[in-house]
Amino acid sequence: MGYDHDLLSSGRVTRVVKACGDPVKDAGVMEEAGEIIKKGGLVAIPTETVYGLAGNALDPNASRKIYEAKGRPSDNPLIVHIARMEDLDHIVKKVPKAAVKLAEKYWPGPLTMIMEKADVVPYETTGGLDTVAVRFPADPVAQEFILAAGGYIAAPSANRSGRPSCTTAGHCIEDLDGRIDMIIDGGEVCIGLESTIVDLTGDVPCLLRPGYISLESLRDTLGQVTADPAISAGADMAEGIHPKAPGMKYRHYAPKGELTLVRGNAADVIRKINSLTQELKKNGKKAAVISSTDNAGRYSCDNVMDIGSSEDEDEIAHRLFAVLRKLDDMEVEYIYSECFETPKLGQAIMNRLEKAAGHRIITV
Ligand code: TXA
Ligand code: MG
Repeated sequence: MGYDHDLLSSGRVTRVVKACGDPVKDAGVMEEAGEIIKKGGLVAIPTETVYGLAGNALDPNASRKIYEAKGRPSDNPLIVHIARMEDLDHIVKKVPKAAVKLAEKYWPGPLTMIMEKADVVPYETTGGLDTVAVRFPADPVAQEFILAAGGYIAAPSANRSGRPSCTTAGHCIEDLDGRIDMIIDGGEVCIGLESTIVDLTGDVPCLLRPGYISLESLRDTLGQVTADPAISAGADMAEGIHPKAPGMKYRHYAPKGELTLVRGNAADVIRKINSLTQELKKNGKKAAVISSTDNAGRYSCDNVMDIGSSEDEDEIAHRLFAVLRKLDDMEVEYIYSECFETPKLGQAIMNRLEKAAGHRIITV
């Protein structure tokens, strides 16, 4: 390995390179990144949802390495990313009609579809399942990379298992420096929440993970779509409900501090949180509040994280994971958050927050 002055002076081990989405300017970076993947290595890449930790989806060893780098249980399957519609046939047994309809409307984009896997996809990639999750991301850097790397990329979110997903290259450095071969810095992601996942292997399509594309939008396109009861049941606490997406059973995104959500009308929520944080301060504990811009000035707590205007749900989604990471950096012991039940993204935002809170919710 050659010596890179920037690497040595930063103390970093993994090489970080920039890409902008222009195929001419990015050609050198993509050639290098593609070579790493073809040799069985790992590269963190931007997508429009969150950063992904990429390896060759058709190479069982690469998938094993992904689990190891993330510290992720190997029964939790990886999403296979493609960058050309015609590549779908190669990795699934058959393409259901519903998949064609959804792909026409939402691909490339933040939608993952589950289908029967073809033999070429190893069980190491699908966590032992006979089905495979497939996504065609919209981010131009992701597309250039997938094509340069051979067309089939397994990529879970690039966070270490249990941490909030990465929305910047800096987050990937925090979690994966020294554990992977390269990080491609494409700037901040656009959406900030992971893709919507829909299972197309049953009689009726089923939403497994809410995301930027809402259940209502899926129903507009397909007619009947069910939702996995585990999404809203607090399933990792309740007995007897097993999420169909294995990853949904784990306690994701858990901040180091104890997070509690407070639900109710704004005045009551503010009063409750102020009384809780004042009590904690008296006892010498460090607390923080996650607030909408609208209410941020009304909390007496020393640490108020403004997550965005309640009128701007895209902004709230976009900032959510960075706010949770910041609270870890600040080493707060207790966190209270407002609930953001916004019209379109509310289900996806609250799904992440409820998981982060281990389903600890106070209703006032
Ligand atoms: O936006 C995204 O989807 C990002 C970017 C990088 O594309 N990826 C992502 O991957 O969020 P990950 O691994 O963090 O989450 C994938 C989820 C997990 O909950 C996993 O259990 C589920 O998808 N999943 C994957 N394959 C599945 C399958 N065959 N059947 C059911 N669930 C599956
Ligand atoms: Mg993840």
